[in-house]
Amino acid sequence: MESKRIAGEKALEYVQDGMTLGLGTGSTVYWTIVKLAERVKEGLRVRCVSTSNDTERLAASLGITLIGIDRIDELDLTIDGADEADPALNLIKGGGGALLREKMVASISKRLIIVADETKYVDELGKFPLPVEIVTFGWETTMRQLSKAYPCTPVLRMKDNVPFVTDNGHYIADCRFTAIPGPERIHSELNTIPGVVENGLFVHMADTLIIGRSDGRTEIRT
Ligand code: A5P
Repeated sequence: MESKRIAGEKALEYVQDGMTLGLGTGSTVYWTIVKLAERVKEGLRVRCVSTSNDTERLAASLGITLIGIDRIDELDLTIDGADEADPALNLIKGGGGALLREKMVASISKRLIIVADETKYVDELGKFPLPVEIVTFGWETTMRQLSKAYPCTPVLRMKDNVPFVTDNGHYIADCRFTAIPGPERIHSELNTIPGVVENGLFVHMADTLIIGRSDGRTEIRT
Protein backbone atom coordinates (compact mmCIF):
# COMPACT_ATOMS: atom_id res chain seq x y z
CA MET A 1 0.00 0.00 0.00
CA GLU A 2 1.35 3.41 -1.00
CA SER A 3 0.70 5.14 2.34
CA LYS A 4 2.67 2.44 4.15
CA ARG A 5 5.54 2.80 1.70
CA ILE A 6 5.85 6.57 2.10
CA ALA A 7 5.73 6.32 5.90
CA GLY A 8 8.27 3.50 5.95
CA GLU A 9 10.68 5.26 3.63
CA LYS A 10 10.39 8.62 5.41
CA ALA A 11 11.96 7.07 8.51
CA LEU A 12 15.28 6.82 6.66
CA GLU A 13 15.69 10.57 7.19
CA TYR A 14 16.40 9.80 10.86
CA VAL A 15 19.10 7.21 10.19
CA GLN A 16 22.71 8.31 10.41
CA ASP A 17 25.96 6.64 9.52
CA GLY A 18 27.37 4.49 12.31
CA MET A 19 24.06 3.96 14.11
CA THR A 20 22.95 0.77 15.79
CA LEU A 21 19.32 0.25 14.82
CA GLY A 22 16.36 -1.83 15.92
CA LEU A 23 14.34 -3.17 12.99
CA GLY A 24 10.65 -3.70 13.62
CA THR A 25 8.26 -6.13 12.03
CA GLY A 26 5.38 -5.76 9.59
CA SER A 27 4.29 -4.49 6.22
CA THR A 28 5.12 -0.81 6.84
CA VAL A 29 8.60 -1.21 8.27
CA TYR A 30 9.20 -3.58 5.35
CA TRP A 31 9.62 -0.44 3.22
CA THR A 32 12.03 1.03 5.76
CA ILE A 33 14.17 -2.10 5.56
CA VAL A 34 14.16 -2.18 1.75
CA LYS A 35 15.20 1.50 1.62
CA LEU A 36 17.78 0.95 4.34
CA ALA A 37 19.31 -1.84 2.26
CA GLU A 38 19.61 0.56 -0.69
CA ARG A 39 21.47 3.04 1.51
CA VAL A 40 23.72 0.28 2.83
CA LYS A 41 24.64 -0.64 -0.74
CA GLU A 42 25.53 3.04 -1.28
CA GLY A 43 27.90 2.91 1.72
CA LEU A 44 25.83 3.63 4.84
CA ARG A 45 27.26 1.74 7.82
CA VAL A 46 24.72 0.47 10.34
CA ARG A 47 24.34 -2.54 12.62
CA CYS A 48 20.87 -3.83 13.28
CA VAL A 49 18.96 -5.90 15.82
CA SER A 50 15.83 -7.55 14.48
CA THR A 51 12.51 -8.01 16.27
CA SER A 52 11.40 -11.23 14.56
CA ASN A 53 12.58 -14.16 12.50
CA ASP A 54 10.76 -12.69 9.48
CA THR A 55 12.61 -9.38 9.77
CA GLU A 56 15.88 -11.18 10.33
CA ARG A 57 15.42 -13.19 7.12
CA LEU A 58 14.42 -10.10 5.14
CA ALA A 59 17.28 -7.95 6.39
CA ALA A 60 19.87 -10.71 5.91
CA SER A 61 18.63 -11.39 2.38
CA LEU A 62 19.12 -7.70 1.55
CA GLY A 63 22.68 -7.58 2.90
CA ILE A 64 22.02 -5.65 6.14
CA THR A 65 24.41 -6.42 9.00
CA LEU A 66 22.61 -8.03 11.93
CA ILE A 67 23.84 -8.44 15.48
CA GLY A 68 22.36 -10.24 18.49
CA ILE A 69 20.56 -8.10 21.06
CA ASP A 70 22.88 -9.35 23.80
CA ARG A 71 25.86 -7.75 22.09
CA ILE A 72 24.72 -4.20 22.79
CA ASP A 73 23.50 -2.18 25.78
CA GLU A 74 21.64 0.48 23.87
CA LEU A 75 20.29 1.12 20.39
CA ASP A 76 20.44 4.56 18.79
CA LEU A 77 17.09 4.21 17.09
CA THR A 78 14.37 1.65 16.49
CA ILE A 79 11.89 1.93 13.63
CA ASP A 80 8.76 -0.18 13.90
CA GLY A 81 5.12 -0.33 12.85
CA ALA A 82 1.96 -0.35 14.97
CA ASP A 83 -1.61 -1.54 14.85
CA GLU A 84 -2.97 1.56 16.60
CA ALA A 85 -1.44 4.83 17.84
CA ASP A 86 -3.24 7.48 19.91
CA PRO A 87 -2.46 11.22 20.22
CA ALA A 88 -0.16 10.54 23.22
CA LEU A 89 1.71 8.05 20.98
CA ASN A 90 0.64 5.12 23.07
CA LEU A 91 0.38 2.05 20.87
CA ILE A 92 -1.19 -1.31 20.33
CA LYS A 93 1.29 -3.68 18.70
CA GLY A 94 1.50 -7.38 18.06
CA GLY A 95 -0.80 -7.85 15.07
CA GLY A 96 2.07 -9.75 13.50
CA GLY A 97 2.83 -11.62 16.73
CA ALA A 98 6.23 -10.00 17.35
CA LEU A 99 5.28 -7.85 20.34
CA LEU A 100 7.63 -9.38 22.91
CA ARG A 101 10.81 -8.91 20.93
CA GLU A 102 9.53 -5.55 19.69
CA LYS A 103 9.06 -4.35 23.25
CA MET A 104 12.45 -5.67 24.37
CA VAL A 105 14.17 -3.92 21.47
CA ALA A 106 12.18 -0.70 21.97
CA SER A 107 13.01 -0.69 25.69
CA ILE A 108 16.73 -0.37 25.03
CA SER A 109 16.38 2.22 22.25
CA LYS A 110 17.22 5.87 22.73
CA ARG A 111 14.48 6.71 20.26
CA LEU A 112 11.47 4.79 18.91
CA ILE A 113 9.99 5.92 15.61
CA ILE A 114 6.68 4.39 14.55
CA VAL A 115 5.74 4.23 10.89
CA ALA A 116 2.07 3.74 10.03
CA ASP A 117 -0.58 4.55 7.49
CA GLU A 118 -3.34 6.96 8.50
CA THR A 119 -5.84 4.21 9.40
CA LYS A 120 -3.70 3.37 12.45
CA TYR A 121 -4.07 6.80 14.06
CA VAL A 122 -7.03 6.73 16.52
CA ASP A 123 -8.48 9.00 19.22
CA GLU A 124 -8.53 6.16 21.75
CA LEU A 125 -6.87 2.74 21.70
CA GLY A 126 -8.97 -0.39 21.77
CA LYS A 127 -10.72 -1.09 18.49
CA PHE A 128 -7.87 -3.35 17.43
CA PRO A 129 -7.94 -6.47 19.67
CA LEU A 130 -5.04 -6.26 22.11
CA PRO A 131 -2.52 -9.08 21.49
CA VAL A 132 -1.32 -10.71 24.71
CA GLU A 133 1.50 -13.26 24.52
CA ILE A 134 0.80 -16.18 26.88
CA VAL A 135 2.61 -19.40 27.73
CA THR A 136 1.17 -22.57 26.20
CA PHE A 137 0.85 -24.33 29.59
CA GLY A 138 -2.64 -23.65 30.92
CA TRP A 139 -3.49 -21.26 28.12
CA GLU A 140 -7.24 -21.66 28.69
CA THR A 141 -6.80 -20.82 32.37
CA THR A 142 -4.79 -17.73 31.46
CA MET A 143 -7.47 -16.66 28.98
CA ARG A 144 -10.14 -17.07 31.69
CA GLN A 145 -8.02 -14.97 34.06
CA LEU A 146 -7.67 -12.29 31.40
CA SER A 147 -11.41 -12.05 30.85
CA LYS A 148 -12.08 -12.03 34.61
CA ALA A 149 -9.64 -9.21 35.21
CA TYR A 150 -11.04 -6.95 32.50
CA PRO A 151 -14.16 -6.63 30.43
CA CYS A 152 -12.53 -8.18 27.41
CA THR A 153 -13.04 -11.21 25.21
CA PRO A 154 -9.82 -13.12 24.58
CA VAL A 155 -9.61 -15.27 21.46
CA LEU A 156 -6.73 -17.66 20.84
CA ARG A 157 -4.98 -16.62 17.62
CA MET A 158 -5.03 -19.34 14.99
CA LYS A 159 -3.05 -19.83 11.80
CA ASP A 160 -3.83 -22.54 9.25
CA ASN A 161 -6.32 -24.10 11.70
CA VAL A 162 -3.77 -24.55 14.50
CA PRO A 163 -2.77 -22.13 17.27
CA PHE A 164 -0.36 -19.47 16.09
CA VAL A 165 3.02 -19.88 17.84
CA THR A 166 5.28 -16.87 18.33
CA ASP A 167 9.01 -16.81 17.62
CA ASN A 168 9.41 -17.39 21.36
CA GLY A 169 7.24 -20.53 21.43
CA HIS A 170 4.18 -18.93 23.03
CA TYR A 171 0.53 -18.40 22.07
CA ILE A 172 -1.28 -15.11 21.46
CA ALA A 173 -4.63 -14.22 23.03
CA ASP A 174 -6.25 -11.41 21.01
CA CYS A 175 -8.30 -9.52 23.58
CA ARG A 176 -11.26 -7.53 22.34
CA PHE A 177 -12.01 -4.51 24.56
CA THR A 178 -14.75 -1.96 24.04
CA ALA A 179 -12.10 0.73 24.67
CA ILE A 180 -8.79 1.13 26.50
CA PRO A 181 -9.16 4.46 28.30
CA GLY A 182 -6.22 3.97 30.71
CA PRO A 183 -3.54 2.08 28.82
CA GLU A 184 -0.87 2.53 31.50
CA ARG A 185 -2.86 0.76 34.21
CA ILE A 186 -4.11 -2.00 31.94
CA HIS A 187 -0.61 -2.56 30.62
CA SER A 188 0.87 -3.14 34.07
CA GLU A 189 -2.03 -5.16 35.46
CA LEU A 190 -2.24 -7.56 32.52
CA ASN A 191 1.40 -8.44 32.99
CA THR A 192 0.80 -9.47 36.61
CA ILE A 193 -1.47 -12.38 35.55
CA PRO A 194 0.55 -15.61 35.79
CA GLY A 195 0.86 -17.11 32.32
CA VAL A 196 1.01 -13.71 30.62
CA VAL A 197 4.42 -13.08 29.10
CA GLU A 198 3.82 -9.60 27.68
CA ASN A 199 1.03 -7.54 26.18
CA GLY A 200 0.89 -5.34 23.11
CA LEU A 201 0.35 -2.00 24.85
CA PHE A 202 3.38 0.24 24.36
CA VAL A 203 2.89 3.11 26.80
CA HIS A 204 5.16 6.18 26.73
CA MET A 205 7.64 4.35 24.51
CA ALA A 206 7.25 5.96 21.08
CA ASP A 207 8.95 9.30 20.47
CA THR A 208 7.85 10.00 16.92
CA LEU A 209 4.99 8.81 14.72
CA ILE A 210 5.31 9.06 10.96
CA ILE A 211 1.89 8.80 9.34
CA GLY A 212 1.69 8.05 5.63
CA ARG A 213 -1.40 9.57 4.00
CA SER A 214 -3.27 8.31 0.98
CA ASP A 215 -2.73 11.68 -0.75
CA GLY A 216 1.03 10.99 -0.70
CA ARG A 217 1.91 13.29 2.21
CA THR A 218 3.53 12.30 5.48
CA GLU A 219 2.64 13.79 8.84
CA ILE A 220 5.03 13.76 11.79
CA ARG A 221 3.67 13.60 15.35
CA THR A 222 5.86 13.82 18.45
C1 A5P B 1 4.09 -7.00 14.79
O1 A5P B 1 3.81 -7.88 15.78
C2 A5P B 1 3.28 -5.73 14.96
O2 A5P B 1 3.50 -5.11 16.16
C3 A5P B 1 3.57 -4.82 13.81
O3 A5P B 1 4.50 -3.85 14.17
C4 A5P B 1 2.33 -4.20 13.34
O4 A5P B 1 1.34 -5.18 13.21
C5 A5P B 1 2.63 -3.54 12.02
O5 A5P B 1 1.55 -3.42 11.21
P1 A5P B 1 1.76 -3.22 9.65
O6 A5P B 1 2.02 -4.56 9.04
O7 A5P B 1 0.43 -2.65 9.20
O8 A5P B 1 2.88 -2.28 9.46
